[in-house]
Amino acid sequence: VTAFQEAERLHDDALGSVEQRFRVEFRYRVHFTRDLFSAGNDVLADALGDPADPRRLLFVVDAGLLDGHPALLEDIAAYCASLGDTLELAAAPLLVPGGELVKNDASVVRRVASAIDACGVDRHSYVIAVGGGAVLDAVGFAAGISHRGVRLIRVPTTVLSQNDSGVGVKNGVNAFGKKNFLGTFSPPHAVLCDFSFLPTLSDRDWRSGISEAIKVALLRDAAFFAWIEANAGPLRERSQPEMEWLVRRCAELHLEHIATGGDPFELGSSRPLDFGHWAAHKLEQISGHALRHGEAVAIGLALDTTYSHLSGRLGERDWLRVIDAIDAVGLPLWAPELLTAGEDGRPAYLDGLREFREHLGGRLTITLLDRVGAGADVHEIDEPLVLAAAELLLSEQEERRWRATRPHSTS
Ligand SMILES: NC(=O)c1ccc[n+]([C@@H]2O[C@H](COP(=O)([O-])OP(=O)(O)OC[C@H]3O[C@@H](n4cnc5c(N)ncnc54)[C@H](O)[C@@H]3O)[C@@H](O)[C@H]2O)c1
Ligand SMILES: [Zn+2]
Repeated sequence: VTAFQEAERLHDDALGSVEQRFRVEFRYRVHFTRDLFSAGNDVLADALGDPADPRRLLFVVDAGLLDGHPALLEDIAAYCASLGDTLELAAAPLLVPGGELVKNDASVVRRVASAIDACGVDRHSYVIAVGGGAVLDAVGFAAGISHRGVRLIRVPTTVLSQNDSGVGVKNGVNAFGKKNFLGTFSPPHAVLCDFSFLPTLSDRDWRSGISEAIKVALLRDAAFFAWIEANAGPLRERSQPEMEWLVRRCAELHLEHIATGGDPFELGSSRPLDFGHWAAHKLEQISGHALRHGEAVAIGLALDTTYSHLSGRLGERDWLRVIDAIDAVGLPLWAPELLTAGEDGRPAYLDGLREFREHLGGRLTITLLDRVGAGADVHEIDEPLVLAAAELLLSEQEERRWRATRPHSTS
């Protein structure tokens, strides 16, 4: 074989492809507890793993919690001190503003990442984020991109973050006027839901999280939906035992979907748990985030359920059950943002369809309802019918408000 022939052979052999293939298993526990930072509660200590290893913690706390829980920072310090030298607080807890503000302000991610750097938080340390869904999303993003991902323990403190946003694998912040434009899929190290945070929520935040439970019940568990219908009064009136059960069941259904739905990192086009969300995300943005995520989701659910009915796939009885339940737990069916005109004069929320598709990639895929407990994916949406659904919801909402002012009416 001449040198020339050998070189020819190498030249040919260099082409082609090599398949790279591996699996990574993710596992984390979601705990439900009360008084997480009280002496004698082992949930956090156990979540931190082997005390023989160095355990360095950086707490990042939702400042909105402090009004209702003024001793929180002292409780955290005392709890950590009680574990002696098996763990080290990297710094005093970092406070960040609560609510959607934290996801709109690009400097927060920088502040958290810079604290991770300054405190020497490495890939074996823990960032512990305590707060509502917005704080968890922003802190989770900062943790997810620092050192290509440091361990994150989430302590969700709202209904919505305990039953939905805080138990899953996503984080993110808003950018370019779009919700969650920047973010990563990063499963947490553990999630610790402490029910004792819930009583200090505002009425709006208490009720907001119920919409995610209605959503997942409608798609996955008709019996759970019936339970919500039957307990709408206590849920609306802030009864703690019913709310704790709702949070627990809703979180389980979300976890089950992520684990068994076949697409935990949402590579496909179908995202059933985003039922009602194409309109919701856009309505939140149009309202300048005056609408809570959960309130916008309630309207988005009402809209897509009504559309399902008007397009002939959902019967009238089921349609009424859904909008009655949303109304009965004290959530809105309609908001004036549905009338806000966009640049082309059409209602601006309709752009949510295009933005939703862009966020997902692939074909437009919207979840509708076939019956209570069963969703269905469609790839086309008829805009005039969406507008008709919104109009019908306005009259349904007005009629319910009028009826509510006449409590003794029997009609
Ligand atoms: N990552 C996901 O998969 C996912 C899923 C759904 C929603 N989300 C996001 O979650 C966010 C909404 O989260 P949210 O509904 O928890 O609201 P939020 O985080 O905006 O919190 C609402 C308000 O409640 C305050 N607060 C938090 N806990 C409190 C408590 N125990 N007592 C009194 N006040 C308290 C906060 O400071 C804030 O002012 C949205 O940004 C939404 O996009 C993310
Ligand atoms: Zn949601």
